This record gives sequence, structure tokens and C-alpha cells, in this order.
Amino acid sequence: MLLVIKSGTVLTPSGPIEANVVVEGERVVALTEHSSTAFDERADRILSAEGKYVLPGGIDAHTHMEMPFGGTFSADTFETGTRAAAWGGTTTIIDFAVQQKGTSLLSTLDKWHEKADGDCAIDYGFHMIVSDVNDATLKEMESCVDAGVSSFKMFMAYPGVFYSTDGEILRAMQKARETGSTIMMHAENGIAIDQLVAQSLAEGRGEPVQHGLTRPPELEGEATSRAITLAGVTGAPLYIVHLSAAQALAAVAEARNTGQNVFAETCPQYLYLSIEDLAKPDFEGAKYVASPPLREKHHQTDLWRGLRTNDLSVVSTDHCPFCFKDQKELGRGDFSKIPNGMPGVEHRMDLLHQGVVAGEISLARWVETCSTTPARMFGLYPRKGVLAPGSDADIVIYDPAAEQTISAETHHMNVDYSAYEGMRLRGRVDTVLSRGRVLVENGEYHGSPGHGRFLSRDLCQYLN
Ligand code: URP
Ligand code: ZN
Ligand code: ZN
Ligand code: ZN
Repeated sequence: MLLVIKSGTVLTPSGPIEANVVVEGERVVALTEHSSTAFDERADRILSAEGKYVLPGGIDAHTHMEMPFGGTFSADTFETGTRAAAWGGTTTIIDFAVQQKGTSLLSTLDKWHEKADGDCAIDYGFHMIVSDVNDATLKEMESCVDAGVSSFKMFMAYPGVFYSTDGEILRAMQKARETGSTIMMHAENGIAIDQLVAQSLAEGRGEPVQHGLTRPPELEGEATSRAITLAGVTGAPLYIVHLSAAQALAAVAEARNTGQNVFAETCPQYLYLSIEDLAKPDFEGAKYVASPPLREKHHQTDLWRGLRTNDLSVVSTDHCPFCFKDQKELGRGDFSKIPNGMPGVEHRMDLLHQGVVAGEISLARWVETCSTTPARMFGLYPRKGVLAPGSDADIVIYDPAAEQTISAETHHMNVDYSAYEGMRLRGRVDTVLSRGRVLVENGEYHGSPGHGRFLSRDLCQYLN
């Protein structure tokens, strides 16, 4: 099958170029000049991208499908979540296998393969959440890397659940240094936060906004600095997940200025939503409970700047949806029992395109932060993250002139609300290909569960 995408503006991290993209089977085989007709006669299909952008499919490096958390499971399965991702122009996710205390990493990995294999509409990889650091699990980190899982998430938050002590983090970082793998850190000081939470509840303050007020940005800044220090002592590459606070960004920027291998991602919710959403009355704030929490609006200015300067290298969603009606409800009257997480996998590409429209980031940075850099950061480049001969034909044709309104009525995520309900957007995904197969076209879905394959990932390709 030969397919030519003609007359579009191809987006690359070094800027837009006017080119046709030629796809044979699952791969890109050539980029040609707009005037070229070299492949037309042989082509089985010609798609016009005139007036549209052609970009490498989005890579969401932080999702949680059917994640056991907060006494329930996140509401999207691998099937529904990857379908929603495809609708939004994301053609790869990297999800998290979750080690429960007392279990092994490899049995955890097997379990996550069972959950995902045969269900995904798009290609997928795994990070490993390490919640039980001991001699055996440290040894197993080597096997995980061999099995294509080259990044390990740890938590400085959630004591008693996923929390690791500084000593445990140090040991895992030493192993990461030894194996060349990356430590991803949920950097919030969970020990201090738990005291603030207990005090708030003791004062009878159980409403959702307290989730934000008991997790102040200083405690994200402090944990981020501590993680950076530990990474510096061990020499491990460090990737700060879901960075939300100016204080944490300052710590990352300082480390990066010294040349340390420290990287960070942020998420659309921290760029567009704020603690005012958490403060919505009648328990509606529960829709916005995620950790770290939504911040005061002034943090957004810093985050956009971080995206421009590359102190924030990646935008992912931390997609972890819980239904408002039957899941967020678990924490009515006690915000500490509201399952933590928000939906978003479907709208990352669109929301970051608003940053282009508003002049916050360039087209090149849009593609870089949403596709190219996640591919490099997590060992998928140049198979993913770029449109070049030899790379997978994961392609989005994006119409920058179209308009749309986000709504739970029309989204494809398996959750009963949208955090961005009613938000008007400029631009819209027009056509999506995954390894040469058209998944979305003319507002119709042509994907199927099981098309997506597991991606065995290399080590980080983004180190200094
Ligand atoms: O609230 C969040 N972020 N839920 C997902 C789990 C995590 O910490 O990433
Ligand atoms: Zn986290
Ligand atoms: Zn997460
Ligand atoms: Zn539900």
C-alpha cells in the first residue's frame, strides 16, 4: 500500500517545511517537494493536506489506563483510552505498570502486558512504578530494562502507598545510573502534606479546594530540589513528572544550567486550569483533584516560559480519569478520599496548539514537546517522533483553521465530564495514521483494538 500526503506543511522541530509525505506499508519512505509527482502513479491513495499541517503523531509519555488507585480503577481501559488518544492525534502512549508492595517488578510487568496486549488502538510502552525497593526489586530493574522498560517512576508523595524514603530513592537511582535507565519522580513532600491534610480534616475542612491548599507549591519545590540533589549524588538521569509549580521549575532550571541530566514535563491542566477550578462549589471542584494540585494562575506564566526555554521538555497528560458521579464521589466530605487524577489524553495536541495560536510557543516547539522530545527522552527515536524515511508512519494531518468546542458530550474518553467543558479551540485533528493505517478520517473512526503494538524502548536518547 502506497499512500501520498500531498501539499501539506510538514512540521519538524527545526521548523515547518513544504513537502509531500510518502508512506509505504507501515513506514515513511520519502519526503518530496510539493511540485513532485514522482509517486502519484504508483499510489494507492492520495490524501490532500493543502492548508493543513502534517506532523508526527503525538506521544503521550504519561498515562494511567485502568490504574488501581484510591480504592478504585481509572475509568479508561487500554481499549477506550487509546481510542480517545487516537481521536486527539496521539499515536503512542507510555503507561505505567504499578508495582504493589510485596510483589515483584517482573510479575507486575506480566500483569500489565495481560491488561494491554490485544486491546490498544495505538502503539504503547510501559514505565515501571517502583513502590517496594529491596535487593530483589533493584536487581529486577536490570531485567525491566532488557524487557524494554527503561524508566522507573518513584514517589516522594503518598506515604503508605507508593512513597519511597530518600534512602530507597538513592538506591534506585544508583541502579538507574548503573543500567543507564531514567528515574521519573513524583516530587511532592508527602510526609509534610499528610500533616497538613490531617490538620485540615481535624478542623472540619473536607471540601475539594483543601486538596490544593494542603499541597502548597513550596512542598513541590522542596521535593524537586531534593530529588535533584539525590540524582546529582548518584549520577542518575532524572525526569520530574507533572511539574506544576514555579518553585519546582526554578529548581529544574538551576540544575539544567549546571549541565545535570535533569528534565521535566508539565501537563495541559497546569497550563490552563487553576486552584479556582478546585474551589468550584457543590463538590464540582472534585473534578479537578489531581496531584500535584492545580495552582494559582501566576504559575502558568512560568510554565509557558519553561516550555519555550526547554526547562520543560515534554508535555504529557497524566491522563487518569475518574467519573464524577460514582468515583470522585468517594471523597465527598473528605477531600483526601477523592481519587487523584484527571482526564486529558484526547485533548493534549489541541490544547498545546492553543499555545501556538496565543504566541506562547512556536509550531516547532509544539511538535517538539508533544512528539519529538518524548520519543528521544524515552528511547523511541527515530522510529517515533519524526517524519523521515524509515520512521513509522504515525502521522497527524491537522487543520489549523478549524474550530471546535470541548465537551463531555462529544469526547471519546470513558469519563462523564471534561475538565475543559465549553472551551473553544482553534484547530482540529483532521486525519490520523498509525503505522500507515488510517485511524481517523472525515470525523469517522477506523481503528481497532489490537492494532497497537508494545514498544520495547531503548535508553534515554536525550542526555547531555
Ligand atoms: O493525581 C494524579 N496525578 N494521579 C495519577 C497518579 C500520579 O501521581 O501520576
Ligand atoms: Zn505522579
Ligand atoms: Zn501520573
Ligand atoms: Zn463511571
